[in-house]
Amino acid sequence: MTATKRILYLTTPIYYVNDVPHVGHAYTTIAADALTRARRLAGHDVFFLTGTDEHGQNIERIAREKGISEQEHCDRIAAAFRELWRRYDIRYDRFIRTTDELHKRGVLRLWERLRLAKTPDGRDAVYSGTYAGWYCPRCEGFKDEEELRQPGNVCPDHERPCEWTEEENLFFRLSAYEHWLRETIESDTLRIRPESRKNEVLGVIKQGLKDFSVSRARVKWGIPVPEQPDHVLYVWVDALSNYITALGFADDAPDYRHYWAGGHERLHLIGKDIIRFHCLYWPAVLYAAGVPVPTREFAQGFITREGRRLSKSTGNVIDPVALAERLGSDAARYFLLREAAYGADWDFTDQAFHSRYNADLANDLGNLVSRALTMVARYCDGNVPPRPAEPASTVAALEAWRRFVATPQAAAATSRLRAFEDATGGRLFGEVATKLLAEYALARYEDLDFAGALGEVWAFVSSLNQAIVQTEPWSLAKEPSRKGELDAFLYRLLEGVRLVAVLASPVIPRAAARIFAMLALGEREPGPADLAWGRLEPGAPLGSISPLFPRADKRIDPKETSVFEITPPAAPKPEPASEQPRSTAPPSGERIDIAEFAKLELRAARISAAEKIAGSKKLLKLQVDLGGETRQVVAGIADAYEPQALVGKTVVLVANLKPAKLMGVESNGMVLAGSEGGQAVLCTFDASVAPGTKVK
Ligand code: MSP
Repeated sequence: MTATKRILYLTTPIYYVNDVPHVGHAYTTIAADALTRARRLAGHDVFFLTGTDEHGQNIERIAREKGISEQEHCDRIAAAFRELWRRYDIRYDRFIRTTDELHKRGVLRLWERLRLAKTPDGRDAVYSGTYAGWYCPRCEGFKDEEELRQPGNVCPDHERPCEWTEEENLFFRLSAYEHWLRETIESDTLRIRPESRKNEVLGVIKQGLKDFSVSRARVKWGIPVPEQPDHVLYVWVDALSNYITALGFADDAPDYRHYWAGGHERLHLIGKDIIRFHCLYWPAVLYAAGVPVPTREFAQGFITREGRRLSKSTGNVIDPVALAERLGSDAARYFLLREAAYGADWDFTDQAFHSRYNADLANDLGNLVSRALTMVARYCDGNVPPRPAEPASTVAALEAWRRFVATPQAAAATSRLRAFEDATGGRLFGEVATKLLAEYALARYEDLDFAGALGEVWAFVSSLNQAIVQTEPWSLAKEPSRKGELDAFLYRLLEGVRLVAVLASPVIPRAAARIFAMLALGEREPGPADLAWGRLEPGAPLGSISPLFPRADKRIDPKETSVFEITPPAAPKPEPASEQPRSTAPPSGERIDIAEFAKLELRAARISAAEKIAGSKKLLKLQVDLGGETRQVVAGIADAYEPQALVGKTVVLVANLKPAKLMGVESNGMVLAGSEGGQAVLCTFDASVAPGTKVK
């Protein structure tokens, strides 16, 4: 029996063309692109749609202010969005604009159906009525009185006064769909996530749904209502329809029949600000018109600056073009999807961007790739070594893993692969590890848990880096009798690197393509066949090695205004930390001169692994990352720290101490700590610094 290919139709919101794109727009689109790539990697058939929302009063006003036509304005901004997506390697299948003829025809077809539709209790779904309320021209919508900020009836989203407005409109009878909506959402027939958003929507239904008006009298720049040509269709009816018009709903086109009406997954990625429109209005309108409704909606959180939503009026908008220019589009994509759980609100700082770049991309991944390839160049003449036979334990290990992932222990772990290794003893390396990783990371992507997928891939990157330190291929290379062992190690290492590139490719496609080129696989898109173990052909000559992510050395002041802001506010900059007055208290004991101090090599070291030393109550064996190098250090801190709690901490290491053996374990350096009540307290940093940074 052949399994049917899974099919996904995926959309982003269509973005308003009232201004150039900001990082919030890039966030959703990058997430959609990464999901598309991940699902294609898993072998699924995906159609990915994005576009622009171009009608409404706001556009009329902006075009007037600029002295150009509405269409000209829309053309310029739509081009800016497309250009941005090109820079970010966004591979959408179609870019829909609400000023496209295809869209307009589709909207009118939907409207025709709606005009004839009957509610479940037999009334007209659309009727005429008078609307009176507070209207926000920026939102293009009426606001509930309780939502407004007083005094001044200010829109909470746009921080501008709303206008009291009365008009004769056509209404959609949303109230008649309460029961159906509740059932559809509660049962996950329409699956809204995160769960908190689902509850929020159910809460709105519980309070009672109000009908909403679907035409506007005062707006010219829109799609005229055929029966009432002095009205245009309400911008949300116009905009939401894009999800079907883009597929050719107007003509019942094959794409529409396949991706929307074909009974497969229909997923909208949205922001938490537009949940009501997407999770209530849109499904009800479709249901009324006899059109299939979406099956899944996921609301991402907001990126903020110092807790405030990004907005031009606050002057804190992050420019996605500048962000991609700084360290490359892969770095920006990686940061946005790795830094916080998709679905949660989080604060953007330049400092976090730089730290993540240096730690994860330049150090962890960049070093792994260059070390692995350099060793193959040195010890195998630059050719892929022979493929080792995998041990028979592979199957048993896979079964153990499947049992393990179902346990609460696995659910609670940040890295399941690591937790599995801890539970079963010993690090996984080779075929089993790569199989587990592929299965697990793809499932994380499918759940829109980008940070989880990347976290797992990077835990594997650390395991590979650690395996190099522990195996010491350079020692094996000195013993000709161990050549087989060395080759087997390097083959597994290269396969590990290859799989990391494959699984990270949805997020960092450019770097992945470069890794493939270095592995002599050609610069290409990875596909499902690349998930299998052993794709590297023994004897194949590797490509030339080039650095993937050069270190970013610019120091970022944590309090500084973002360099990516489009219009930075003119607030005075705080004093840099290094210029703060220093304590003048004399140090105790004999003084040394600066030359003596300079003999000490102090460096920031990130702990990548920690374990107890058998037979010792005080000592822990640590693996620390110094940027280009991983070291083993023994530290007397076991009475104060649990080994697991240390992983990820950045501490200060005396890096140029002569090696010493403690309880038979070699230590290459010393971790600095103070002591409080007889317990060790590690010296750490009060903001993140990249591993290897010199401490002076
Ligand atoms: N045009 C409507 C959507 C119509 S969809 C049928 C609209 N456009 S928008 O330009 O305002 O962009 C909305 C989307 O951009 C949000 O829903 C969200 O996905 C994204 N973001 C805008 N600002 C954001 C942040 N500060 N943070 C994260 N994403 C945000 O609403």
